[in-house]
Amino acid sequence: MSAPMPAFPQGFLWGVATSAYQIEGAVREDGRGESVWDTFCRRPGAIRDGHTGDVATDHYHRWARDVALLAELGVDAYRFSIAWPRIQPDGAGPPNPAGLDFYDRLTDALLAAGIIPVPTLYHWDLPQALEDGGGWLNRQAAQRFADYAALAAGRLADRVGTWITLNEPFVVTAFGYALGIHAPGRTLMLGALPAAHHQLLGHGLATAALRAAGAREVLIANNYSPAWPASEGDADREAARAYDTLHNRMFTDPILLGRYPDLSAFGIGPEGLPCVRDGDLAVISAPLDGLGVNYYMPTRLSALPGSPLPFQMQPIPGYPVTAFGWPVVPAGLTELLTTLAGRYGGALPAVYVTENGCSQADQPGPGGGVADPGRIGYLDGHIRAVHDAIAAGVDVRGYFHWTLADNFEWSEGYHQRFGLVYTDFETLERSPKASFAWYRDLIAAQRAGARDDRGARARDARGSAVPGPGVPGPAE
Ligand code: BGC
Repeated sequence: MSAPMPAFPQGFLWGVATSAYQIEGAVREDGRGESVWDTFCRRPGAIRDGHTGDVATDHYHRWARDVALLAELGVDAYRFSIAWPRIQPDGAGPPNPAGLDFYDRLTDALLAAGIIPVPTLYHWDLPQALEDGGGWLNRQAAQRFADYAALAAGRLADRVGTWITLNEPFVVTAFGYALGIHAPGRTLMLGALPAAHHQLLGHGLATAALRAAGAREVLIANNYSPAWPASEGDADREAARAYDTLHNRMFTDPILLGRYPDLSAFGIGPEGLPCVRDGDLAVISAPLDGLGVNYYMPTRLSALPGSPLPFQMQPIPGYPVTAFGWPVVPAGLTELLTTLAGRYGGALPAVYVTENGCSQADQPGPGGGVADPGRIGYLDGHIRAVHDAIAAGVDVRGYFHWTLADNFEWSEGYHQRFGLVYTDFETLERSPKASFAWYRDLIAAQRAGARDDRGARARDARGSAVPGPGVPGPAE
């Protein structure tokens, strides 16, 4: 039996995260436009077994059931994403009222259940019409994104205080534009870098638009991975540094420090990326209220001389792996959080773990329940790892588990199950797994601990200072 979970600071947010295309389905309903993922899913061979997000978990129709599950789980906050093509079917122009209505209803239902809504504006479902005009390679996409942000916040910011602009611009750039594994399926290698800059510019412009519409807190969610050299040799260390630049620094230095990292490992000289214009970095580095950190695993790298991307990924032996084959390394999360704090110092805002989770080969047992001890172990290890980072002085304010229910896992289709809730993809019924109960109990215990702690501090205050009205007296 493992040691009791240590107490997290008061006010620490416990949550779960989802994204629109992975759960909503209803891709042709209520005026929604096409997104790059609708197109990409139709490309032969792009998605395992030809799966698509056409139905997904049917959240668009079953959202009330999902809110009930969130309430049962007892989360403080729910991170979901808004589908841009529901709000602007062609990525520009006036909003589609039915699209806004959907998120309006969801927001009200969450608030009624006492759950803080935390929407992400862009979790990869770019309107296809914008991709037809060059997508994120086209600078105009940044302004379009800010316009869309203004529409979404114009409708919801009276009730939604905290907003996340982009999810993982690294993954969009690398998988979507450089390697072609994700939509829009471009294989431009380093030619993808303008997509990075234009997303960052979009983030900066959207930040201003969100604040103008009344948003109280603006965050971005980035994917991070500690970059481990495969050996102590100089070449491998150099390879790890190059990877760290692209994965971890490229999307954070401009935001927090107002400059791009040294890109010389990729043949880019001090003049920088040609797509960067005067004033862009000031827009991109507008102050943020929090940094969203998505963590799944570290990356181990060896040198690959003579390649435009001078590194090669290597397996990380010696750790258990998820159904995806990803190594389970909780200490990597502590390393990541302390590295960010050391790297950015006072420039680092409050940190939220906005995603962390694992896929497991879950199956209902004979009684219908789903035992997922691997996920419970994963949660336990990673939540402790967050606590270790807090104990080391990192200002981590929340943890959002990925994800509520098994859903459409991008190029893997429905093959990777990341949920605390089992989804039967035939009937679309949801059944909480054992990890759901584990996380529910953890949240409840942390909340009770925080209440006791508050009570104890109120008692201390009463003992040592003038008691304020309404401060509860000692129980004895
Ligand atoms: C993404 C999620 C995805 C998860 C697991 C993250 O990079 O934001 O959409 O499901 O990883 O692959």
